[in-house]
Amino acid sequence: MNRLGILISGRGSNFEAIADSIDEGRLDAEIAIVISNNPHAKGLRKAKARGLKAVCIRSRAMEREAYDRLVVATLRKEEVDLVCLAGFMRLLSAYFVGEYPNRILNIHPSLLPSFPGLEAQVQALEHGVKHSGCTVHFVDEHLDAGPIICQAVVPVLDTDNEDALAARILKEEHRIYTEAVRLVLSNRFRIEGRRVLRTP
Ligand code: GRF
Repeated sequence: MNRLGILISGRGSNFEAIADSIDEGRLDAEIAIVISNNPHAKGLRKAKARGLKAVCIRSRAMEREAYDRLVVATLRKEEVDLVCLAGFMRLLSAYFVGEYPNRILNIHPSLLPSFPGLEAQVQALEHGVKHSGCTVHFVDEHLDAGPIICQAVVPVLDTDNEDALAARILKEEHRIYTEAVRLVLSNRFRIEGRRVLRTP
C-alpha cells in the first residue's frame, strides 16, 4: 500500500479531501502521518479526530535544513513513499527535495507560473485576469516552481472578492489533488524537461 505523508500548516482542507478520497475508495493509498509545523493548525486536530497519526514538529527559530532533517527522519520512520504539501507554508531545502526525488507534491491556488507565493487569489484579482485556478506540481527547492502535474481553470467573475474566488478555486483544488496523487502513484508518467507526460 502506498503510504502518504501530508505536511500542513493550517486549515487542512486539502488534507481532508485526500483523506476522503482514500476513505471513499477513490485513491489507493493510506495516510501514514500528518505533520504540521504549526501547533495551532486546525488540520492537526482534524487528522487526530480521524484517528490518523498526526504530529507537530515546530519550525519556529529553526534553520531550514535542520528542520527538514527532522521531518525527513519522521517520514522515513513512517515508511512514507509520497509527500504531499497541503498548505505547508515553508520552502523545502535541497536536502529534503533530494531525499524524495519526484515524490513531493504541492498544491497552489493559481495557474502557475502566474502568481506564485502568498495570497495568489488577491494577486489574480489585482492583476485583473479573467481566469485563474490551481496547480499541483512537483516540488523543488524554489517557490511554487517544479514541473506541473495537473491544473484546473476557474473563471474570475466581476462580482468576485478574495473569498469568493478562493472558494471557487478551493473546490477544484480538492478535486485535482487526488487526481495528481493517483497519477504519480500509478507511475504512468515521465518528465521531459518541465513537462509531465502521461504514459500508457
Ligand atoms: C490552499 O489554497 C493551497 O492551495 C495553498 O494553501 C491553501 C491551504 O488550504 N497552498 P488548506 O489548509 O488545504 O485548507
